[in-house]
Amino acid sequence: VKKYIDVLSMLKLNTFHWHLTEDHGWRIEIKKYPKLTAVGAFRNETLIGHYNDQPHKFDGERYGGFYTQEEIKGIVVYAQSRNVTIIPEIEMPGHSRAAMAAYPELSCTTEPVEVGTKWGIYEDAFCPKEETFEFLENVLDEVMELFPGEYIHIGGDEVPKINWKNCKHCQQLIAEKGLKDEEELQSYFIKRIEDYVNSKGRKIIGWDEIIEGGLAPNATVMSWRGTEGAVQAANQGNDVIMSPLSHCYFDYYQSNNDEEPIAIGGFLPLKKVYEFNPIPEGVKAERQQHILGAQGNVWTEYMKDFDKVSYMAFPRAMALSEALWSSDANKEYTDFVKRWEQFRSRLELLDIKYANHIK
Ligand code: ACM
Ligand code: ZN
Repeated sequence: VKKYIDVLSMLKLNTFHWHLTEDHGWRIEIKKYPKLTAVGAFRNETLIGHYNDQPHKFDGERYGGFYTQEEIKGIVVYAQSRNVTIIPEIEMPGHSRAAMAAYPELSCTTEPVEVGTKWGIYEDAFCPKEETFEFLENVLDEVMELFPGEYIHIGGDEVPKINWKNCKHCQQLIAEKGLKDEEELQSYFIKRIEDYVNSKGRKIIGWDEIIEGGLAPNATVMSWRGTEGAVQAANQGNDVIMSPLSHCYFDYYQSNNDEEPIAIGGFLPLKKVYEFNPIPEGVKAERQQHILGAQGNVWTEYMKDFDKVSYMAFPRAMALSEALWSSDANKEYTDFVKRWEQFRSRLELLDIKYANHIK
């Protein structure tokens, strides 16, 4: 992680978004809830090959680990010394199966589940009961203590509503609060968390699904499914971070070579990243200052180690940085490629792997 932060800093990328919880593993020590890591940080096995390969095959090997609070403190200080702010993400209400494996009482069914072993979207979601909010507030207290930055990312993406539809408590809550449906229940969930985080002097960021059912008043939207969410949020006066699938998913393939190592799919060549314009069409001129910047996403389902992560991230992260810090008039791809040739040698000195598909 420190090596990664070194390169972000060299590229003038001043923020590291650290996705610390998922269906497949809970990666941050929380003192009040030791089972989050004792149970939630480990899975029994992992999918082999691509999710689309049927039938699914598994490696049969236990996998896991987590960052202790002491380790995290060290990383936060290290990042500060390089002018990089870390934004932690604690996913809710979806992508939370690992938490439910540790504490099944937080789900709608309360039935035991195992930490996820295959990719894709699991149906698990936190049930919006008082016990859950108390749990999440306690978790966020420890997270805010560790990460001094302004923002806490609370996830919000890809929440299946099926369990909420079948849950007596969820349906009662919808009726009691006069909510229209499960989308509005999600909005209720996020707004409650926003209130809590705001009361501690911090702000939330959420993936663009948090717009559905009504956007929390002070939330910053991370626009990933496209730019529609960005346009809507910015025009209504909320801040936005751009991370659209079209230009910012560094887990996509970057070349058509047959020998290219396995990736989730998609195609995002270097030049396309360089061409990215972070201000989406449709944002009114007087609202453009709400587009705070953009981020490259490096989801690691198909990246087993740091060599693979850096291979996927570089040089696309360099192209993104130039796209963000340059005016359109000053952007010239062949020029960028010359700078990349210099930068490569710096990565080599640091023994950091990279891809070299510049065409
Ligand atoms: C996302 O890629 N699910 C935000
Ligand atoms: Zn429920």
